[in-house]
Amino acid sequence: MALVPYALPKSVLFSMDPETAHDLTIGALAQFQNTPLACLWGARRVDDPVEVAGLRFPNRIGMAAGLDKNGRVIDGLGAMGFGFVEVGTVTPKGQPGNPKPRMFRLPQANALINRLGFNNEGLDSFLTNVKQARFRANGGILGLNIGKNAATPIEQAVDDYLICLEGVYPHADYITVNISSPNTKNLRALQSDEALDALLGQLQERRQQLIGRHGRTVPMFVKIAPDLDEAQVGVIAATLEKNGIDGVIATNTTISREAVQGLPHAEETGGLSGAPVFEASNQVIRLLRAALGPRYPIIGVGGVMSGADARAKRDAGADLVQIYTGLIYKGPDLVRECAQALSR
Ligand code: FNR
Repeated sequence: MALVPYALPKSVLFSMDPETAHDLTIGALAQFQNTPLACLWGARRVDDPVEVAGLRFPNRIGMAAGLDKNGRVIDGLGAMGFGFVEVGTVTPKGQPGNPKPRMFRLPQANALINRLGFNNEGLDSFLTNVKQARFRANGGILGLNIGKNAATPIEQAVDDYLICLEGVYPHADYITVNISSPNTKNLRALQSDEALDALLGQLQERRQQLIGRHGRTVPMFVKIAPDLDEAQVGVIAATLEKNGIDGVIATNTTISREAVQGLPHAEETGGLSGAPVFEASNQVIRLLRAALGPRYPIIGVGGVMSGADARAKRDAGADLVQIYTGLIYKGPDLVRECAQALSR
């Protein structure tokens, strides 16, 4: 267990507006990571090694993308006991994201809505931070999640992904191509048939060059939305395989509000995360597993609030599990709880 019970910082953080609480937490983690004070939130990592996509993960639980968009607190998160940490989404140039307020709590539903819009400092600053992290040297697996700038027309999206792919390649254990945020205009259109095939074809071609240049194959994953029907998931699965993509992350946040109707903030625009997305994302995982067979790497994410939820992701077909919103509501102890539940 972490030294400080989460109820304490939670009551302070939940008295603030969500983005202020987020910035304060990132600031504190950045300040105290790699110092003796990390014991305040740190926990011993559950040792449950598993090989997925040719990588050796120290355990099956990971930090989902979007909490640490600039890669500033990789070691601080690693100290919570995560086997893997995914940072980003990074875009080629820094950008401010959408106007505030743009993050909302729905505590009755253990949920969040965000429309941040890939606010981040850009690729150069991201890489400076990533290079300083010690997490990989300590056996952790680092995922770098890439996207496109809001100002880049969707027809030229591939250029942004290629710039990011080149930049992050030497510093990543795996790379996630994020085409499923609801907060960048038209981004999710990249999930549809020809657009996806064209994007992944070009990324794979560039990856082949990067393998030659760096002498190392870095697995490439694609992150998809929960708002897809069976036919769409089937096409995506076939397109991933056709283009030699190494794994799939399911899922991002949902645009559906069915599960939170009538709650305060439910009508805010953006992506809904946490408990209300749990079933929808499990369903996508089940469909992917059925379409892709037993060996294809699937990372499950969406609404994990307990060790039992993490198990349910495994039962749906996920090899590895990530959390974000659960960490906000339950605190760092959730990491160990999930890692243990997944090790059984
Ligand atoms: C996210 N998520 C996200 N995903 C991504 O690929 N890139 C990103 O930049 C972000 N940003 C982001 C911000 C905030 C505030 C939240 C809550 C979420 C999505 C996240 O990684 C995850 O896929 C979903 O939130 C579902 O998991 P949870 O939160 O229900 O465990």
